[in-house]
Amino acid sequence: MLIDGKSVLDAAKAGRYGIVAPDFLTLNAARVFVQTADALKTPILLSFAQGHAGLISLEEAALVGKYWAEKVDTPIVLHLDHGQDFDFLQRAVELGFTSVMLDASMKDMDENIRLTREVVACAHAKGVSVEAEIGHVGGASEGIEGATTDSVYTTVEEAKTFAAATGVDSLAVSIGTSHGVYAGSRTPELNFKRLQELAAAVPVPLVLHGGSGTGDENLRRAVREGITKLNVYTDFLVGAMAEIKAAEPDSLVELQKASDEGMRKVLTHYIELISKQP
Ligand code: 13P
Repeated sequence: MLIDGKSVLDAAKAGRYGIVAPDFLTLNAARVFVQTADALKTPILLSFAQGHAGLISLEEAALVGKYWAEKVDTPIVLHLDHGQDFDFLQRAVELGFTSVMLDASMKDMDENIRLTREVVACAHAKGVSVEAEIGHVGGASEGIEGATTDSVYTTVEEAKTFAAATGVDSLAVSIGTSHGVYAGSRTPELNFKRLQELAAAVPVPLVLHGGSGTGDENLRRAVREGITKLNVYTDFLVGAMAEIKAAEPDSLVELQKASDEGMRKVLTHYIELISKQP
C-alpha cells in the first residue's frame, strides 16, 4: 500500500520503534526491498536518491516504486532521498513520490529555511511529506557524483528553530554518523547526549543518515533515544557483493539472484534490529 511518510513516521515515533529507509539504485533492489518489508509485515521508506538519477531516471524510479508499493498490503512510502533542487523535487511530487527530502544542509541556516519552506508548500499541497536536514552528515556516498564532505553536528537551538520555521514532517540530524564506509571499519561514536536533547526539543520524528557500518548496539540505542527513521545504502552494496562472491555465479541470472539475496538479508537484519524494538 502506497502511503505518505508522515503517517508512518508519526506512528513509529509514538510507538518508539524505527523505520528503515533503504536506498535502491536498481529496479531489482526496489522489488527486493518491498517484498522483504511485506514478508516481515513492516513498513519501510523505499528511497531513491537524486544522486542516482544517472543510473535510473526519476520516472523509472517512480514507476517501479509505485508499482511495487501498490502491489502489497504493507504500508510503503515512496521517498526521494537527498533532493538537491526545487525542480527535481517538484517533479518527484508530480510523479507520485509520497515523501521528499530536500538536502540544503550545506547552505546557511536562513537559506536552508527559505528553500525548505518552498518545498514544504509545494509538497504539502499534494499530501506529500517533507524531510530536511540541519547540521550536516558528511561522507563520500551522497550521490554517485557527490563530493566527500565533513560532518557538522546539529545544534539543539538550530533544530528547534528550523523545525518551527519550516513545518517539515521529519528532520535529519547529525550526531556522529557519516555516509559510506568508515575508515578502517571502525564503529563511529555517536553523541547520544545531543540526540536526547534534540529529541526533547524537536516535535517531529528525527532521521539518522549514514546508517551503514554504525553498529547494531549504536542503532538500537539511537532508536531508543529518539531516532525514528534510519537511512541505509552502502551496506546493501556490501551485502550484495559478499553474497555474489560466496555464490560464485556462472551466469548473469545466478549473479542477479545472489545480489537480490544479499540485499534481502541486509534489509531483514535492519528491520529486525530497529523496527521490532519495543
Ligand atoms: P550509508 O550509505 O552510510 O548507509 O548512508 C545512507 C544514507 O544516509 C542515504 O541517505
